[in-house]
Amino acid sequence: MARLIARLLAAQDGWARPFGDFNHRWLNALFRPMLPIRDFLNGTWLGHPVHSAVTDVPIGALGVSVILDLANQRGAADIALVLGILAMLAAAVTGAADYSDTDGSPRVRATVHSTLMVVALLVFLVSVLLRVGNPVDRAAPVVVSIIGFLILTAAAYVGGDVVYLFGNMVDRHAWRGAGTKWLPLEAPDDLPEARPTKAKLGINSLVLVRRGDTISALHDTCAHAGGPLSQGQIVDGCIECPWHGSRYRLEDGALRRGPAVYDQPTYEVRRAEGGGWEARRRS
Ligand code: FES
Repeated sequence: MARLIARLLAAQDGWARPFGDFNHRWLNALFRPMLPIRDFLNGTWLGHPVHSAVTDVPIGALGVSVILDLANQRGAADIALVLGILAMLAAAVTGAADYSDTDGSPRVRATVHSTLMVVALLVFLVSVLLRVGNPVDRAAPVVVSIIGFLILTAAAYVGGDVVYLFGNMVDRHAWRGAGTKWLPLEAPDDLPEARPTKAKLGINSLVLVRRGDTISALHDTCAHAGGPLSQGQIVDGCIECPWHGSRYRLEDGALRRGPAVYDQPTYEVRRAEGGGWEARRRS
C-alpha cells in the first residue's frame, strides 16, 4: 500500500514541479515586501511552526460537521462546516508562508498537498451552496461534504510527507545533543575581523566570527533547511543565512528573522594550551 501511494505521488511530478516553481515565484514576490508578516505566519515569534497547529482546527471542525450531518443535526452541522472552511483559509495562509521557502522535492510534495487542499475547499463551498434555503432533502450536500472530507484527509496525508518524509520546517539540530567536552577546533590561527569563517569541530562544521577579542561560534548548518551560514553575511550583530535569509544573533544564536522558527546552536571557543583552538557546545 505504502509503495502504491509513493508511486502515485511520484507520478504527479510532471505537473507539480513547474506549478510549484510558478507558485514559489509569486509567493516570494508577495512576501518579500512584508517579511515580518511572513515571519509571523511561519511562527518565528512562537519558536514553532504555526501551520502545524492551525491545521488541526479545520480537520476537527469538518470532521464534526460530517458526523453531525449523518446524525441529522442540521444547524450544528452547518455551523461546523462554515467554521471549518474559515479555519481552512487560516491554515492556507500560514501554509503559504512555509511553502514560499520550500525547495526541490519538498516543494513538489507541498504543491500536491496545497492543490488537494484547494480542491477540498471548493468541494466544501459547493456543499455550503447546496444547503442554502435549508432544503428538505439534504442528501446531496451531505454526500458532497463526505467527498470533501475524503479529499481533505488525502491532502493532510500528503502534507504529512512534507514534514515527516522531507523534514521541511524540522529543526536541523533536533538530534544534536549538548556536549560539555572541549574538543580540538580546526580553524585558522588568525581569525579575520567580522568575517564568517568556517571551522571543523569533530564531525560538525561551525561558523566563527571574531569581533575584537570576542569570538562567536554557531553551528554552520542553518536550523531552517541546512543552509551554510559561513557563506552568509553579518547584519546588525546577526549572521544571515544565504539560502532564505534567516538571521541568528551572533552572541547566543537567538533567532531574529525567519523563515526559521528555531534558534541556532552556539559554541564556546578558547585557545588550546598547546596552541590552536578548542571548542564545546554551549546551547
Ligand atoms: S536554510 Fe532557510 S534560512 Fe537558512
